[in-house]
Amino acid sequence: MIDLHSHILPGIDDGAGTIQDSIEMARAAQVNGIHTVVATPHHKNGAWDNSGQDIPHLVDYVNESLKSARIDVKVLPGQENRINGELVNDLKKGISIGLNHSRYVFVEFSSAQVPRYAKQLLFELQVEGYVPVIVHPERTKAFREEPDLLHEFVKNGALTQVTAHCFTGKVHKSIKQFAEDMVIHNLTHVVSTDAHNIDMRPFDLRESYDYIDHQLGSECVDTFLENAERIIENRDPLLDEPLKIKNKKKFLGLF
Ligand SMILES: [Fe+2]
Repeated sequence: MIDLHSHILPGIDDGAGTIQDSIEMARAAQVNGIHTVVATPHHKNGAWDNSGQDIPHLVDYVNESLKSARIDVKVLPGQENRINGELVNDLKKGISIGLNHSRYVFVEFSSAQVPRYAKQLLFELQVEGYVPVIVHPERTKAFREEPDLLHEFVKNGALTQVTAHCFTGKVHKSIKQFAEDMVIHNLTHVVSTDAHNIDMRPFDLRESYDYIDHQLGSECVDTFLENAERIIENRDPLLDEPLKIKNKKKFLGLF
């Protein structure tokens, strides 16, 4: 399996602290059945800045260390960009980079809001040839409260990544429900772990796919597996027509 979202690079964000942590994470990924991990350190999230120019050499260092430790996991470069007005320019300058240097760019929203300029920014990214991949939209309150907003972004060409932990871990029921709704309504395109360490935020992709397979449909798993591969190869993803999630609160409020 391929995991598109991880914080496996050592000492540059709130993920792996040391190279030993990175090695232990990779070992855990291998046990989970993951052979390729995209390293997506935080960038411009208010706490961490990691330029795309600094990431590839650290990826090389981790890959060499994994080889020495005889761990059969390959790490690829990526980045988790918090949404900001400089993103298009930063991509042009190499300060921001796509997943494995592809046209697919991780875009993170805060847990609360979707800024007014988001629609325009997602549009501009695509005009410039990039494909925004909104990471863990289930965590953003504004999407949960107004799912039509996410539907609009997806309809307009954005992809989204749902977090494996939603299906396997202890998350608030509203987040789990929204994650499932996204899968059912074709509003998400890939499942990734967002692993930060080996205990609290681990690689749990296999368990997550098992859950989706049993509860939401095996065809979803096939699509997600395929899309992860296509994204790192810079190919077009499999897409199903996005459907609208009924806003249950609003619906109930009518009666
Ligand atoms: Fe992340």
